[in-house]
Amino acid sequence: MWQTIPFRTPKVVFGMESIRQAGSEAKILNAKKALLITGPSVKASGALELIEQSLKEASISYEIHVLERATLEPTTDMAELAAKLVSEKNADLVVGIGGGSVLDVAKMAAALTGNPGNVRDYFGPGKVKNKGTKALMVPTTAGTGSEVTQHAIFLDLENNVKKAVASQAIMADVAIIDPMLTVSSPRNVTAASGFDAWLHAAEPFVSKNANPVTDALSLEAVRVISRNLGAAWSDPKDLDARYNMSLGCLMSGFALANAGTSLVHAMAYPIGGEFHTPHGVSLSVLLLACFKAIAASKGERLVRLAAAMGEKVEGVSVREGVKIALDAIHYMLRSVDLPTCLTEIGITDKSKAAIWAKDAWNERRLLGRAPRDLTVEDIARIYENAFEPYEG
Ligand SMILES: [Fe+2]
Repeated sequence: MWQTIPFRTPKVVFGMESIRQAGSEAKILNAKKALLITGPSVKASGALELIEQSLKEASISYEIHVLERATLEPTTDMAELAAKLVSEKNADLVVGIGGGSVLDVAKMAAALTGNPGNVRDYFGPGKVKNKGTKALMVPTTAGTGSEVTQHAIFLDLENNVKKAVASQAIMADVAIIDPMLTVSSPRNVTAASGFDAWLHAAEPFVSKNANPVTDALSLEAVRVISRNLGAAWSDPKDLDARYNMSLGCLMSGFALANAGTSLVHAMAYPIGGEFHTPHGVSLSVLLLACFKAIAASKGERLVRLAAAMGEKVEGVSVREGVKIALDAIHYMLRSVDLPTCLTEIGITDKSKAAIWAKDAWNERRLLGRAPRDLTVEDIARIYENAFEPYEG
């Protein structure tokens, strides 16, 4: 079958110590003054000092804005305040340095300088019409893929729900991905963000939007991340594991930007919004129930995921292969101390399932590409199943 396949990506510079190219990349973007947006926990990575040095060498002036984090998730007002600073300081380049939350704020701050109104005006697909200030993203975790995607997720404090801006215009101009910066990631962040990256490969693979290009990226990302997550978690200074996790994350980020996530992410939004669980944990407690629910339509693809994870699936039936896939995913999550059901993180009130299901169902951008048609009741049943521990 012939297909038209659009492919989105910023310019990418990947490699050990690639951070030293920040100044020369900023120069190519004709930057004269940069606003560096970062978070309080970035200090440990040493990334900020390296970028400052590189910008000085390229004779680019800069100011630093450290985000104050009252919540785990970025909030809309953080991006609005940062956008104000970009304008006040006359910056012609926004540099985001940090995990996915910081990068989402930086991308949106840059976008708001070229578009009127507030973040809330841009929730949903394709709402940001104009390109804002140029943006260069530097991730310090191997996780969210925000550096290469057109998405930014915010906690809307008015309604206590997480919502996404999804527009081509907010994609960064350049992503510099230096695996050395992830070495200082705490163990729980390595696990949760690394698993998020794994799912950014696996979920597009079972989405309606998958195409041969994203399939190739998904399977390779699943292969690389499955083999390296445990090692990076066990020994933070294992540079090979860190390098491979960043590489896998880059590939899954491309899959995410071009085929997108669906059911698991849609169902994680209400959980993350209400309980403020780390994004990767909101996903890990739902994943097995979600993948069980899509086995009827995507069983063969789940078996291919198992093969990419290194499981032996030759000659087995789809039913057996799906079980092997779910067992392998459960093992991977347990081995890096990630919870696999809602009760494990203290969420026990099953009556909430119907309310969350309505919110998740409303995430049409994500559920539109889900591998099966789901009613609100179907989704509520998946939540109910996610309370139960996985028993194979
Ligand atoms: Fe995610």
